[in-house]
Amino acid sequence: MTSPSSATSTWAAGDYPAMAAHLSPAADRVVAAAAPGPGTTVLDVGTGTGNAAFAAARTGAAVTAVDPTPELLAIARRRADEEGLAVTFEEGDTDRLPGTHDRVLSVFGAMYAPDHARAADALVRACAPGGRIVSAAWTPDGLMAAANRAAGPYLPPPPPGGQPPVRWGDAAYVRALFAGHEVSVTTERVSFAFASPAAAAAFWVRTAGHLQAERDRLLADDSWLALHHDLAAVFADHTTADGTVDANSAYLLAVVRPDR
Ligand SMILES: C[S@@+](CC[C@H](N)C(=O)[O-])C[C@H]1O[C@@H](n2cnc3c(N)ncnc32)[C@H](O)[C@@H]1O
Repeated sequence: MTSPSSATSTWAAGDYPAMAAHLSPAADRVVAAAAPGPGTTVLDVGTGTGNAAFAAARTGAAVTAVDPTPELLAIARRRADEEGLAVTFEEGDTDRLPGTHDRVLSVFGAMYAPDHARAADALVRACAPGGRIVSAAWTPDGLMAAANRAAGPYLPPPPPGGQPPVRWGDAAYVRALFAGHEVSVTTERVSFAFASPAAAAAFWVRTAGHLQAERDRLLADDSWLALHHDLAAVFADHTTADGTVDANSAYLLAVVRPDR
């Protein structure tokens, strides 16, 4: 979930669909801000297992959804079949976006591009005249970033030149990325409830492909439990009186109207 790079192999290594189930309110929020409908075309960038693509398709819009991780696209296609939703899924990323669309969405997707400025330019190019880009990105001071910091020491160093994904969740940074275009932002939240900090940490590790990818190495050097412990400490800050965890993770919702 908090992968510092766009390396696609790791996104499929964990139980991402379980995390995506928690994130669907954010996809709904992005689609509501985009307000697609019958007669509009939508591109969902970094669709993962398809949350935003499906929410957009339910409005009657014609939806294309791209993601660089084939395993997640396969799950998205299966979900579309089950729900009887017509969405065109394609393998792609911010460097490979098909066509132009009335609405361009990215829910915790473009933030993982290795070059944010290039990704923002690509979103603008993919947006039809008069259209709208809507993105969601975890904020640098939120729960997701805190979990990322806790897990950082257990991970290989990020690739040189890569940009921290959560920078896309900073309002000033996003305004600079889309300089010259009209940008409005709000801070929104996704809720997470767990039976305990340990349960929260276990969920985080199970769903995060970039942590699962390091499992064997961390077990071998005896730091797998320490990773869980350090993540549990992040969630302990959100413990309620009965010992359960009631946390929320802030994200920046940005609506961009490209000036053409
Ligand atoms: C946190 S998941 C979000 C998935 C989905 N949008 C959701 O809300 O559940 C991040 C997704 O971004 C994709 N991704 C990573 N780098 C990307 C890039 N450069 N362009 C587009 N998508 C990318 C990953 O494959 C993954 O599916």
